[in-house]
Amino acid sequence: MSSKREIASLHKVVKNYGEGKVLTKALRGISMKILEGDFSVMMGPSGCGKSTLLNIIGGLDRTTSGEVKFNDENFNTLSNKALSLIRRQHIGFVFQNYNLLPVLNAYENAEYVLMLQGVAPAKRREKVMHLFQEMGLDGLENRYPRELSGGQQQRVAIARAVVTEPQLVLADEITANVDSETAQSLLELMATLNKNNSTTFLFSTHDPAVIKFAKKIIILKDGIIHSEKASIEETGQFAHR
Ligand SMILES: Nc1ncnc2c1ncn2[C@@H]1O[C@H](COP(=O)(O)OP(=O)(O)OP(=O)(O)O)[C@@H](O)[C@H]1O
Ligand SMILES: [Mg+2]
Repeated sequence: MSSKREIASLHKVVKNYGEGKVLTKALRGISMKILEGDFSVMMGPSGCGKSTLLNIIGGLDRTTSGEVKFNDENFNTLSNKALSLIRRQHIGFVFQNYNLLPVLNAYENAEYVLMLQGVAPAKRREKVMHLFQEMGLDGLENRYPRELSGGQQQRVAIARAVVTEPQLVLADEITANVDSETAQSLLELMATLNKNNSTTFLFSTHDPAVIKFAKKIIILKDGIIHSEKASIEETGQFAHR
């Protein structure tokens, strides 16, 4: 809705991988806005560019052309270091393949960014343990990623992403490896963060359970936005835009 603050915007974003015969046009001109409090879900067939788009919005990867703005800062004008500072302060990532650091245990993985932010140890402990309890991870603090199931690793990855209370959480296929009960509880936790803290979420998924929670659905096809629609709670009706 127009009264919401704009967190991020994309203008004609193009992303190519490779060149010549192996050129892949992953994104072919994406323009979109992310507003504070969004709980949006991106869908589309494998290879349509969902992960690429999330990486670009989060400043993990650069555009080939076009612009990404986050809190009015144009990523094109920022150094890699400045970009990584924005990520550390404001953006949480949950990756398709978890990306936990193998040399850190579950607790250390979850507290890592808080440590980089300079949060005191006692405060870190309080925040991480509170989330671990809410997410059914208590008792697993000392386990290394290789000693955790896929679903447990995914929960640690989610705890790591939200423990810093970022403005924006980018979540790539986060329910792919968890059972439906766990998926439901993770989504409820994120919906609560969305409601209470106005944390903004952008998911990519194929999972109907995630789609059920969406306030906005974005359909991606072949690197472009095919359609966008807002859910009933947002508009009073299911409206196409
Ligand atoms: N690092 C890379 N180098 C070359 N091509 C890439 C790279 N990453 C992605 N691609 C290509 O870009 C296109 C978009 O990939 P992307 O991973 O964004 O799709 P996706 O929608 O996330 O798919 P999935 O649902 O399978 O996760 C695909 O054709 C993919 O092969
Ligand atoms: Mg993907």
